[in-house]
Amino acid sequence: MRYAFAGTLLPLAGPPSPRLLAVRPTAFNNDLIGDMTMDAKSPKTVALNVGDKSLNFPVLSGTVGPDVVDISKLYAQSGMFTYDPGFTSTGSCESKITYIDGDAGILLYRGYPIEQLAENGDFLETCYLLLYGELPTAAQKADFDSRVTHHTMVHEQMARFFQGFRRDAHPMAVMVASVGALAAFYHDSTDINDPHQRMVASMRMIAKVPTLAAMAYKYTVGQPFIYPKNSLDFASNFLNMCFAVPCEDYKINPVMAEALDKIFTLHADHEQNASTSTVRIAGSSGANPFACIAAGIACLWGPAHGGANEAALAMLAEIGTVDKIPEFIAKVKDKNSTVRLMGFGHRVYKNYDPRAKIMQQMCHKVLAETGHGNDPMLKVALELEKIALHDEYFVQRKLYPNVDFYSGITLKAMGFPTSMFTVLFAVARTVGWISQWSEMIEDPNQKIGRPRQLYTGKTQRDYVAVDKRK
Ligand code: CMC
Repeated sequence: MRYAFAGTLLPLAGPPSPRLLAVRPTAFNNDLIGDMTMDAKSPKTVALNVGDKSLNFPVLSGTVGPDVVDISKLYAQSGMFTYDPGFTSTGSCESKITYIDGDAGILLYRGYPIEQLAENGDFLETCYLLLYGELPTAAQKADFDSRVTHHTMVHEQMARFFQGFRRDAHPMAVMVASVGALAAFYHDSTDINDPHQRMVASMRMIAKVPTLAAMAYKYTVGQPFIYPKNSLDFASNFLNMCFAVPCEDYKINPVMAEALDKIFTLHADHEQNASTSTVRIAGSSGANPFACIAAGIACLWGPAHGGANEAALAMLAEIGTVDKIPEFIAKVKDKNSTVRLMGFGHRVYKNYDPRAKIMQQMCHKVLAETGHGNDPMLKVALELEKIALHDEYFVQRKLYPNVDFYSGITLKAMGFPTSMFTVLFAVARTVGWISQWSEMIEDPNQKIGRPRQLYTGKTQRDYVAVDKRK
């Protein structure tokens, strides 16, 4: 079956305008489905011609960013689904939290540019902003900081729960399990229909996920768990829980605390990325918030997402020295190889990742402070960056360094093992996941997430007894 195009109003050939890009599903196979065009009479609808029927779909505008076509009635009206692997042209929800303009390299939390938040505020202020929608007043900030600080301890039995893991367990495996297990320890905040319980669960996770993360680290290095210290700020407390030992004083380096706080701020949210979408999908079934965040952590673990900084560092170690870079770049460009330049490229940013710029500055500051300025790995990183920013292959594909390229080097210099990098990302992203989850629960249009498919398997056939099979 072939469907006719309505396409008289917009040119179908040539580079599409941003508006057309937003309303024209590029992944469609034209043999299956017709093209969508803006309706001349009503600029806020698009028409889709299916056979001799013309269907109109509303075009929705956000406060900023491309318009979207509301195709929720597509199946009912046409008997067809959309096909968009990787959801590259699909908006899955309405959100007021984070905005990214990937072409311009802009990232806004609740309208505020990430650069301004990272420069002037602290991570807990960003947490408040993401959760409540506005920056806190001084009194609100003091109250919020105090509430987070006074909920950082975890149930003492969690420590025994940890004993079940192998000492060499990857800390992300421990995080998936221990954050999921919070539901077993805090039943009194798992009723998602109670706004008070939702907020209690949210505060508990912002406060306790760092404690679990530090415990995951301590467990793998065989050191005793360090309890949270209420006199310390969020980042300093995390450093203390990771690096203090009971037998001597641990002095917190303010440069490290500042860098960690900024890393947390930069990673706090990133709209509908893979792990956030996972949290939303998990939550859409009514699952409890601890289970949803555990699902997000599982997704974040992958090397194409949160695992990229660990992968970037492994890549730098593999390259080893600057003279080996050309050989590596040749492998990256080879169509027959699957090697990628880790820490480069982004699904959304087709410009310099604004977080990477801030992270690059922090990286240099931390390396100067720790005396790692001459680290061969850093030399390889800087040379790779230079080559990739000028090499035709990367320039043409708009592959810029992303935040993970620098965060890995910074975290290594701060003393974190590579296996902890994604864990730190999870600590930071917890607030983003929770804010997005809460927004979804409060959305009156919320439905269980249930995508459809293009089935290309066998058609119906009859069962054949085993002795009759050829
Ligand atoms: N190195 C080499 N080539 C690349 C890379 C890379 N890192 N990324 C994309 N390409 C090429 C790819 O081979 C393709 O080339 P061609 O057109 O010749 O087939 C083209 O660029 C487009 O690639 P794509 O896979 O369609 O792009 P995508 O938007 O689906 O992928 C990505 C985004 C992040 C998965 C990818 O860039 C990648 O794998 N990067 C390395 C992993 C990484 O650093 N991930 C962290 C992302 S930022 C953290 C976060 O927000 O979670």
